[in-house]
Amino acid sequence: MRYFIGNWKMFGVPKSINILNKINSFYLKDKHQKKYRVFITPPYTLLESYAKYFKKKKILIGSQNCYQKDIFSSNTAAISPYMIKSVGAKFTLVGHSDNRSEGDTDLMLKNKVSLALRNNLKVVYCIGENKIDKKNNKTFSVLKKQLSRVLDRKLNKKNIIIAYEPVWSIGTGKIPTKTELNKTIIYIKKVLKGIFKKKNISVLYGGSVDGNTVGVFKEIKEIDGFLIGGASKSSKKFIDIIKNYYR
Ligand code: 13P
Repeated sequence: MRYFIGNWKMFGVPKSINILNKINSFYLKDKHQKKYRVFITPPYTLLESYAKYFKKKKILIGSQNCYQKDIFSSNTAAISPYMIKSVGAKFTLVGHSDNRSEGDTDLMLKNKVSLALRNNLKVVYCIGENKIDKKNNKTFSVLKKQLSRVLDRKLNKKNIIIAYEPVWSIGTGKIPTKTELNKTIIYIKKVLKGIFKKKNISVLYGGSVDGNTVGVFKEIKEIDGFLIGGASKSSKKFIDIIKNYYR
């Protein structure tokens, strides 16, 4: 199974649902539809209405983040995994570099992952090295820490997806070389196997994925799908990624 996950970040108002309607219509007609799934993360403000609207349709709606405490608490502007689940969302991102750079620690991320899973949300756990880590040849050690400090064997691995997003590639148009990326994805899968003693956890790539760059990524068979930022805000750009992937 492949995943095409659109992360809208701070984008979207109620009428932006048109974008998803177009993606949904494409999906319904696509002869490759059985090979992949489409997930989208609108902002919190649209989560309930979009989740209701897409309940019986093929697009899965999820959240961009969740809080590290559950049910209710006195934390201004916080949204718990329980609250996300209660409006019909099916999954959440955790650990996006935007949130890590604003202070999310490993312990916070560990709580988020485990609480989200406990609420039966799928978790798309994001990892990735920054420009300095890469320059200092620290990519593998950074990724290993991000995985081993947050994930453990007792978690419900069936609901975990990993998204590898090198921070230096997000929104920059810069992408890793094929050899580099292939090695990194294989390394991530090896670390995951060490943690979970299982082979089959999906690992996605994110960072400047569009209709052109996907041509490079599709040659790396170990990549199980994509986390897409900028290009997910346009139905045409998002559909082009899927079309070019299966061309
Ligand atoms: P871009 O696709 O805009 O590089 O963003 C990637 C991303 O951060 C998705 O979560």
